[in-house]
Amino acid sequence: MPLQIVRNDITKMKVDAVVNAANESLLGGGGVDGAIHRAAGPKLLEECRTLGGCKTGQAKITKGYNLPAKYVIHTVGPVYEDGNHGEKALLEACYRESLSLAKEYGCDTVAFPLISSGVYGYPKDKALKVAVDIIGDFLLENDMTVYVVIFDKAAYKISEKLFADIKEYIDENYVSEENTADFMEWYNQNKNR
Ligand code: AR6
Repeated sequence: MPLQIVRNDITKMKVDAVVNAANESLLGGGGVDGAIHRAAGPKLLEECRTLGGCKTGQAKITKGYNLPAKYVIHTVGPVYEDGNHGEKALLEACYRESLSLAKEYGCDTVAFPLISSGVYGYPKDKALKVAVDIIGDFLLENDMTVYVVIFDKAAYKISEKLFADIKEYIDENYVSEENTADFMEWYNQNKNR
C-alpha cells in the first residue's frame, strides 16, 4: 500500500525523507524534533541555522546527516487552541508542503510523524485524520510510499480503530499490497463519510 501506518521511532526509518515536527525557529526542540536532531548529529543544526526559520504551515528541506534518511523535511504545525483558529487548514498545509518538497527532491519513500499532536496539543485522532486525508489525496496523483509513524501505543490504538474499516475492505476484496488502485478508489469514495 502506498500509505502505511506503522509504530516506530521515526529516526530509525530507512526512507528517502523523514518529516520533522519543528517550530518556527528550526533550531531544535523537544519531542520528535529533539530525537531527529540527536540522531542526525550537530551538522543538522548547522544547516538549519542557514534557513532563516519557517512559517507555520510551511516546510523546508535539509540533508539527513547521520540519519538513515537522506533528507529531513522540517515543517511547522499549528499550536492547537480549540480547533476554531484555522488549525486544520494549517496542519493540512504542512502535509501538502512537505509532500510537494519530497516530490521535488525525487523521494520515493517518506515518513511523517503525527505533526502537532504532542507539545502543540492537536488531538491525536483528529491529527491522524488530517494526515491520512491529505496523504491519500496526494497519492491519488503521485507515486510514492508514505509512512505515518506513530510513536506511542495509545495513539496507535486510535489508528487501528480508525482504519479497521480499511483493513476489513482489504480482507474482503483480497487487494494485494501492490494492487492499490482499488483501495485508492474506495478510499476516495469513502473519505468524507
Ligand atoms: N518518532 C516518531 N514520533 C515521535 C517521536 C519519535 N522519535 N517522538 C515523539 N513522537 P511533538 P508537535 C511523536 O511534540 O506537537 C518540539 O519541541 C509524539 O508522540 O514532537 O508538532 C518542536 O521544536 C507526537 O505524537 O511535535 C516544537 O517546538 C508527535 O510525534 C514542538 O515540539 C508530535 O509531537 C512541536 O510540537
